[in-house]
Amino acid sequence: MSLASGPGPGWLLFSFGMGLVSGSCPNNCLCQAQEVTCTGKQLTEFPTDIPLDTRRLFLNDNRITSLPAMHLGLLSDLVYLDCQNNQIQEVMDYTFVGVFRLIYLDLSSNNLTYISPLSFSVLTNLVQLNMANNPQLAYLHKYTFANTTSLRHLDLRNNGLETLDHNAFRHLLALEKLYLSGNPWNCNCSFLDFAIYLLVSYLDPSADELNATCVDPLQLKGWPITRVGNPLRYMCISHLNMKDYIFLLLIGFCIFAAGTVAAWITGMCAVLYQNARRRSSQDDGDDEAGQRVAINKGIFQTKVNSNPQFPQLI
Ligand SMILES: *[C@@H]1O[C@H](CO)[C@@H](O)[C@H](O)[C@H]1NC(C)=O
Ligand SMILES: *[C@@H]1O[C@H](CO)[C@@H](O)[C@H](O)[C@H]1NC(C)=O
Ligand SMILES: *[C@@H]1O[C@H](CO)[C@@H](O)[C@H](O)[C@H]1NC(C)=O
Ligand SMILES: *[C@@H]1O[C@H](CO)[C@@H](O)[C@H](O)[C@H]1NC(C)=O
Repeated sequence: MSLASGPGPGWLLFSFGMGLVSGSCPNNCLCQAQEVTCTGKQLTEFPTDIPLDTRRLFLNDNRITSLPAMHLGLLSDLVYLDCQNNQIQEVMDYTFVGVFRLIYLDLSSNNLTYISPLSFSVLTNLVQLNMANNPQLAYLHKYTFANTTSLRHLDLRNNGLETLDHNAFRHLLALEKLYLSGNPWNCNCSFLDFAIYLLVSYLDPSADELNATCVDPLQLKGWPITRVGNPLRYMCISHLNMKDYIFLLLIGFCIFAAGTVAAWITGMCAVLYQNARRRSSQDDGDDEAGQRVAINKGIFQTKVNSNPQFPQLI
């Protein structure tokens, strides 16, 4: 007999146990229909007596400094979590392990400085993630979004990001809107791959395309990062830097040195060959002289021999 089919003794015990927890509601908060609203209640900590079957939790506009994985982990039905405008400083690998059904997560306007690389790794259903307005957030690891494959909206506006690894977005095939404005983007050559990703991806251009601009280097200041791919490619690929020049100089020197050595060896060979030839031709010279004598003798002899035949021919 299953729990759902009728109110047996097991079911009564179960609902009594649940009642102890789900009957409660955090102080000052409003709990109804699997939704808990604690908006603007001056909370400094994550509230503890949240009903276990809660699906939507509003903690926005408080002063909460951390999200305790243990308390959050009890809420395995949670699909919507709004933590906007608090003072959360970091998100750890295990923070969201228990709330793997999450579809909407808002961490905007906090004081995030660190997002651990595996923080979102169980959130495979997450569709919308907002991390805007965390000005201390300067770095995102390339595996941060490796498993959030359902993500469609990602808001990273007004953070402290200078660069992003294009590999971080490789698995986000459903991504439609990516908001990147208000960051101090450093469009140096390390930025090239991400700039090219922005050029070739099918992101919705109506996001904040033209408002996300380079801050560094000086000659690209003000360029929208969605259009900086081509000038960057020109600067970084077709132009050489100091190291390349030194490399080319070394190659040139090597070729020059190798050429000189080759020429010297060739010269030496030529001289040795000449010497060898001269020596052998001196030896041959004696023979040649002998031959010439023999020929002369022959001629002389033929002349001598032929002389008596002339009268016969005439
Ligand atoms: C934000 O975090 C930084 C460093 O982690 C700290 O110095 C600062 O006071 C925090 N700001 C707020 C408003 O909590
Ligand atoms: C992504 O999820 C799979 C299974 O759900 C898991 O094996 C893998 O370790 C996760 N990857 C990361 C980077 O957390
Ligand atoms: C480009 O800028 C980023 C962020 O400021 C920095 O980490 C990286 O080392 C820079 N790369 C180069 C090639 O200068
Ligand atoms: C870009 O910035 C301007 C001024 O800051 C603002 O008025 C405009 O709405 C922004 N556009 C988008 C698409 O966010």
